[in-house]
Formats: sequence, C-alpha cells, structure tokens
Amino acid sequence: MAYENNRPSADQGSSVNAADTVQAEPVTDWVNDWDWLDDSWGANAIDIWNGVREQCPVAMTERYGRAFMPVTMEAVSAIANDTVNFSSEFVSVAQPDAIRRPAPPITSDPPDHHGHRRLLLPSFSPKRIQEMESELREYTRSLIADIRAADSSTADAAAQYSQHIPVHGIAQMIGVPDSDADLFRDWIYRNFQIAPRDNRVREQVTAEMRAYFAELLERRAAQPEDDLATLVTNAEIDGEPVDNELKLGYLLLLLLAGIDTTWSAIGSGLWHLATNPHDLARLAAVVDDPDDMLWLTFSEEVLRYYAPVTMGRKVIGDTEVAGCPIRKGEQVLVTFPAANHDPAAFDQPEEFQIDRAQNRHVAFGLGIHRCLGSNLARLEMKIAFHEWVSAFPTYSIDEASETTWTNGQIRGPRNIPVVLAGDN
Ligand code: HEM
Repeated sequence: MAYENNRPSADQGSSVNAADTVQAEPVTDWVNDWDWLDDSWGANAIDIWNGVREQCPVAMTERYGRAFMPVTMEAVSAIANDTVNFSSEFVSVAQPDAIRRPAPPITSDPPDHHGHRRLLLPSFSPKRIQEMESELREYTRSLIADIRAADSSTADAAAQYSQHIPVHGIAQMIGVPDSDADLFRDWIYRNFQIAPRDNRVREQVTAEMRAYFAELLERRAAQPEDDLATLVTNAEIDGEPVDNELKLGYLLLLLLAGIDTTWSAIGSGLWHLATNPHDLARLAAVVDDPDDMLWLTFSEEVLRYYAPVTMGRKVIGDTEVAGCPIRKGEQVLVTFPAANHDPAAFDQPEEFQIDRAQNRHVAFGLGIHRCLGSNLARLEMKIAFHEWVSAFPTYSIDEASETTWTNGQIRGPRNIPVVLAGDN
C-alpha cells in the first residue's frame, strides 16, 4: 500500500488565535489554586503533583468553580470506583456553565454505561486489534521512509512521527480518511487546550465535529462499510435502536480518545529515549527481537511515568475524599498520572526503570470506565518504539531547540526536536 498522497502535515496549526482566548493569572500556590491550563503545568506536572502530595492528598481551586485535584493512589482510586457520588456526565473540569453533550460510554453512569460499552467492546478485543499489526507497521515504516527522504540530520519526532500513527490507526477503524488528519488535530487542540477556559470555543468545536459525523452517519446508512462508523450507524442496545445524539457522541469520543492520548504516550517515550541514552542503548541492543520483554516493560514504564490522561468527575452527592469534604455540584479531577507517582503505591516512583517488574500503573484508568482502547494504544506504542529505534538507534535530543508540553487533560510533548545520528 502507498501512503505518500494522504500524509497530513501535523504542523500544530490551529484556527484559534491565542490572543482571542481567555487569559488567566499564573499559579503561585498549587495546593489552593491549581490550574491545569497554567503555562508551567505541561513541563512540570510531575513535580507539581509531588509537591502537593508532600503537603496534602487533595489540592483545590476556585478557577473552574470549586474543583479538587487528588494526588494519591488511594484518593484517585476512591473517586474512580465511586459512581454513586461521582458522575461521569462531566469528564473534563471546565467552566461550570459549559454545555456538555453525551459521548458514551465515557460520559455515562450506571446503569446506562454497560450497554454502551458492550456495543463498542468487541471492536477493541485483543484479536481484532492484533489483526491491525502488519498494516500499522507498514504505515509506520512509511513515516520513517519520509524522514529519511527529507535527507536532514534533524527531525521533529512528534510532528513527523508520533502524531501520525494513532490518527492513522483510529481513522482506519472508524472509516474516515487520513487526509482529514489536520482537521482532527485542530479539533483536539481547541477542545483540550482552549475550550476548558472558553465555552465559545467548546461550542464551535463540538458543532464542527457533530456536523462531520452526522454526514458520515448518513453516508453509512446509505452505503454500509466494514468499519466502526457503520457499526454505530446500525447501533442497537437490547434490541432498541440507539438515539442519533448518542451515535454522534460515540464517534466524537472514539476520535478524541483515540488520537492524542496515544501520540502523547508515544511522544513521551521517544522524548525519554532521546534524553536518556542508556535506556536507548538497552533497547537498541534488542531491535532484532520485537518480542523481547524489554519492549513491553519500557512501554509500561512510559505509561506509568508519563501517563498522559487526567479525567474529571462531577460530584453528585456530598462526600469526602482523604478527609477533604467535597460537596454536590463541585468538580474533581481523577488524576491517574499523579497516582502513578505515589510512593505509597510504587517503589521509587521518581526513577524511570525500563525493566520495572511490578508495574500496576493506572494510566488507563480504574473501574467501569477503564480504557476501551488500551489494546490499540499498546500495539501502536510497541510498533512505534520498535520501528523508530530500529531506524535511529543512536538519536538524541537537539539541544538547539526546546520541547514544549501540552497542558490540561492530555499531557505530552508538542514537539520532539532530535538529531538523527547513527546508522541512518
Ligand atoms: C496511551 C493511550 C491511552 C490512554 C493513556 C488512555 C487513557 C484512558 C483513561 C484514563 C480512561 C478512563 C476514563 C475515565 O475514567 O473517565 C480511558 C477511557 C476510554 N478510552 Fe482510552 N486511553 C488511551 C488510548 C485510547 C485509544 C487508542 C482509544 C480508542 C478509541 C481509547 C478509547 C477510550 C474509550 C472509548 C474510553 C471510555 C471507556 C468507558 O467509559 O467505558 N483510548 N482511556
């Protein structure tokens, strides 16, 4: 298969002018005034969570109405497993008057959640995902071929590599073209980086996505294909057809959940190897065996150490978390990445151990909403790391440029400037 003609640009472009968006005061007190959109969050989130944990298990802010940020495994697990007091109707801490639309199963609570999840689950089974391996590997190799063809000693491993692989994977599954990838990236940027502070942007992005998917549903109703869009078009739960609003929600969720979550994990792993030559050398020594355990333990440690996804919940019953009273109507983060750095849960959490033996990380969440796409994410990570290290076994970070990290709900490197030294 040839991929050359539909390569999206991944240029980080966005239709939003930063000057038009809502600005906020910089954070000086992370315990009493946290803000996940603060300029210093992306690069320093791990230090921020660790600093808060030294003082208390739960931080708070008034910036999004009253909202709490737990930083221990115990507090995060308690919230994720408690669907009586914490609702998933709001899964992103945002302005209190934000209009939320359903995107099941992630935004549904029991008892509805089960039916939505059961509908989508078979498409993400280990067997179905494994069938994608050779095509995904071929696509990934085509990205490497493009980088080599550019004939440069440097590259951006995010814009030219990690940001393409998950777009391709989920686009294939849903049944949308790779050539729309710039559009998807723009939606993701505005939805996660700008919308939490700005309801107008949230409305705009949602309207654009809904129009795109409404048209896709109409096309699949007229002409079915073998893809997720067709499965959603014909969706029934317990013999009853699913409402069109919910069908749009499924597709919005699959696209949003399937892309920058995984590119952030791949990007964090590539950034780690570029800045830790000892770990890179250990992987380079096993490139001939893609099934060597080190690839697996490396991916899992990337997921633990650099876990990209933090969710939100709406409080629906007065309760308490780690002794901190939380009232109905307030919001909480489910800070899975912070829990992954809790010394009460992990031996030496601040050490990245490429061969960590015990690694019960919660990067994919906990409880009924645990990630539906984890098999796909793990496959994409495995292929991405193996193909990259096979091609560039001695690459390193380009000290002449700086890496910036995304803020908010999904955290990862926006750009990874590298020098492609070695055998290339
Ligand atoms: C490294 C990559 C990924 C990470 C770290 C990640 C993380 C998560 C987390 C933490 C949750 C729990 C949400 C909650 O508790 O509210 C979740 C749920 C979900 N994820 Fe992922 N995810 C990743 C990749 C993917 C991919 C590739 C897909 C494919 C579409 C996907 C689809 C979903 C869906 C549909 C849910 C909702 C499940 C439910 O509510 O029952 N994710 N993910």
